[in-house]
Amino acid sequence: MTADRVDLSAARFEPLSIIDLIRFGASRFAEAGLTFGHSYDNGLDEATQLVLHAVSMPHDLSPVYGASKVTSDEKARVLELFERRINDRVPVAYLTGEAWFAGLSFSSDPRALVPRSPIAELIEAGFEPWLGGREVRRALDLCTGSGCIAIAMGHYNPDWEVTGADIDADALSLAAENRERLEAGNVQLRRSDLFQGLEGEVYDLIVTNPPYVTHEETDALPPEYAHEPELGLRAGDDGLDLALRIMRDAPRHLSEDGLLVCEVGEAEHALVRLLPELPLAWVEFKVGQMGIFVAERADLLEHHERIRALADARA
Ligand SMILES: C[S@@+](CC[C@H](N)C(=O)[O-])C[C@H]1O[C@@H](n2cnc3c(N)ncnc32)[C@H](O)[C@@H]1O
Repeated sequence: MTADRVDLSAARFEPLSIIDLIRFGASRFAEAGLTFGHSYDNGLDEATQLVLHAVSMPHDLSPVYGASKVTSDEKARVLELFERRINDRVPVAYLTGEAWFAGLSFSSDPRALVPRSPIAELIEAGFEPWLGGREVRRALDLCTGSGCIAIAMGHYNPDWEVTGADIDADALSLAAENRERLEAGNVQLRRSDLFQGLEGEVYDLIVTNPPYVTHEETDALPPEYAHEPELGLRAGDDGLDLALRIMRDAPRHLSEDGLLVCEVGEAEHALVRLLPELPLAWVEFKVGQMGIFVAERADLLEHHERIRALADARA
């Protein structure tokens, strides 16, 4: 028992407060020219998360505690995290081991991309108005990575049967940990190269955030992205190698009035150029359009020949 006792008598308080450290970090991040966009879009939020993590306080700590003084040990932990963020360009979520997605806390580490898809907003809105009253019994999250989309769908829709599929065993091991963490008993995980391992499976809703960064863009990405698995980003000369295969094969895995929700980011423009006649509904988010479309199975089928020709040409 004695070995477990904590001795706090050596604690020395600094004149610095939590807020002082957050401001200091944000200033250093600005000077270092860091790139934001992995969960947080600015240095103040990133510094806040790192400081709260280092002082073992919740991520939504009331601002009242911002004036609290930190100890010398806590200051040292904060500065070490700031240094790793600046010198090694490690994304905040990998430093804290946690990323928030659709209001849920996920484990995050370099086995999978940091969860940040705007699809979170659609999940929280129950995919309305897109579902428009369609009943969903089975949903698929293709390219699930950390499992964030599949698990959030399962969490908010306990009566859905959700599958998360990914080609990468490492990503799936993190997804399995997240399924445990969030007790998502209605989510199953499958290893599959897109639909290849899902033969005969049919879903009412297929949601996917596949890799969609062009070769050129991948090579020019800021150093933060080098910590993420390249398999999660790179997708050919125009970013559409995987999205077109998904659009080609989705009709075979969608129920009659099923929907495909697919993120293609900046590759949206290339997709519209290739398939100008395909009716895709580009989702309007709170911050505007984010390169995410909704497609009806019937429309994908009607344009199947053209989609197939484009997808096959990349095989
Ligand atoms: C952009 S990440 C998205 C991860 C997660 N859904 C999210 O939103 O954070 C793309 C994911 O696709 C997976 N992936 C890449 N190629 C794949 C393929 N051929 N079949 C299935 N998954 C693939 C990667 O392993 C990666 O986890």
